Amino acid sequence: MARVYDPFVWVGELAGMRSRRSVLVGNARGRVVEIGAGTGLNVAHYPDEITELVLTEPDAAMRRRLARRLQRHGRVARIVDAPAERLPLADSSVDTVVSTLVLCTVPDPELTLSEIARVLRPGGQLLFVEHVRANSRFLAACQDKLLEPWRHFACGCCCNRPTAELMRACGFTVVADDVVWRGMPAIVRPLIVGRATR
Ligand SMILES: C[S@@+](CC[C@H](N)C(=O)[O-])C[C@H]1O[C@@H](n2cnc3c(N)ncnc32)[C@H](O)[C@@H]1O
Repeated sequence: MARVYDPFVWVGELAGMRSRRSVLVGNARGRVVEIGAGTGLNVAHYPDEITELVLTEPDAAMRRRLARRLQRHGRVARIVDAPAERLPLADSSVDTVVSTLVLCTVPDPELTLSEIARVLRPGGQLLFVEHVRANSRFLAACQDKLLEPWRHFACGCCCNRPTAELMRACGFTVVADDVVWRGMPAIVRPLIVGRATR
């Protein structure tokens, strides 16, 4: 997955995802924790003003690419080997959590969201870009049908996960736009892009 990830998403990055990352991550402030940072496609976009950047990533091959990308961009960040379900961070110690294309993949999204809620300070924010279950009944039915083959192909990714609803069920107030992830298969539409607070 780590080896093919950047080439696989590259068209989508050029077709709008890169600028979407830039706008989203540009809103990060204070102590920032990114979960499932992958190969580091957000790294270049963090504002210089943030006080600390912690990048969590449980996959060793991803972490190696992440370290290389940090070095290429001359960014300072701490890379932490941890799943988002178990963040090695104190309660109420983080101003911004960033999740891009991760809540679809974590094995336990409810636990992940409660862990994010635990580490966020009062007034803290979760910034996200996530693909979610489609509003269109036809596309949602296709996502249900193709869930297992897609999950196998995309290393655990659940294309039919109702992530905004899961956020609300965890007590977050969600402000998000629905957009299309251009350059990617319809099965990963729509994307929700926004901010969740508690
Ligand atoms: C689709 S990739 C997204 C990578 C990156 N966030 C991006 O925007 O390009 C999903 C990432 O989630 C990571 N991941 C898988 N299970 C995880 C977990 N339980 N906790 C945190 N990250 C996880 C994977 O290793 C992978 O790096």
